[in-house]
Amino acid sequence: MKKLEQIYEGKAKKVFETDVYDFVIVDYKDDATAFNGEKKGTINEKGIINNKVTNHLMKMLEKKGIPTHFVEEISDRETIVKKVDIIPLEVIVRNIIAGSLAKRVGRPEGEKLSRTILEFCYKDDDLGDPMVNQYHIFAMKWATENELELISDYSLKINKYLTEYLKDLNIELIDFKLEFGKTSDGVIVLADEISPDTCRFWDSVTGEKLDKDRFRRDLGGEEDAYKEIMKRLLGE
Ligand code: TMP
Ligand code: ASP
Repeated sequence: MKKLEQIYEGKAKKVFETDVYDFVIVDYKDDATAFNGEKKGTINEKGIINNKVTNHLMKMLEKKGIPTHFVEEISDRETIVKKVDIIPLEVIVRNIIAGSLAKRVGRPEGEKLSRTILEFCYKDDDLGDPMVNQYHIFAMKWATENELELISDYSLKINKYLTEYLKDLNIELIDFKLEFGKTSDGVIVLADEISPDTCRFWDSVTGEKLDKDRFRRDLGGEEDAYKEIMKRLLGE
């Protein structure tokens, strides 16, 4: 498969056209941003780790019956994925209070929720990805009722499968963000990435943060944290 012209560049990835219909190549960068791009930096080898961790988890989820955009990893940083129209929603799944939820409700980080919370944000950097509800989503036609039901169902199942999988690796899944896309034949699939950039992972024994919060909050040790996640998941 030939890598053709770049069609998109985001904060953490580039996307390239290919010579195969409906397939594109994602290329993961080491660039790290936070607070909607206000804070910028790099995390050495993050692109390699996020590519491998994402693919590893997407393959696991596929086996459990969750459709994903994953096709084939072709290098350390590059993966062939199905071309999709991204549904302009970020789905946030929360098991433990942390981050913006802790601020919003004035509760300490680390408190276990009595049930899982799903949040939806409208994916628009210029607006800072504002939180929206079902009424906004249907009125703006970002997704239909059936589509949102499917996305919510997948998100809760993904939470269950990821939580179980990570528990055995002594990783507690605090919260994470998902994106879904629609293939040319109208099928909704999990897209984007599942990585320490998009999840909060805490060591279940020590409580140590093993994710992008180390970068967001200037805690240091982000490279080692990302490496530790890759080691626990892939043994590399
Ligand atoms: P939050 O607590 O800052 O709202 O983040 C919730 C989860 O979503 C956390 O695991 C980090 C992830 N996330 C992203 O992947 N991208 C984003 O732009 C934001 C704000 C959060
Ligand atoms: N990725 C987002 C950004 O740069 C936010 C984050 O992950 O904290 O802006």
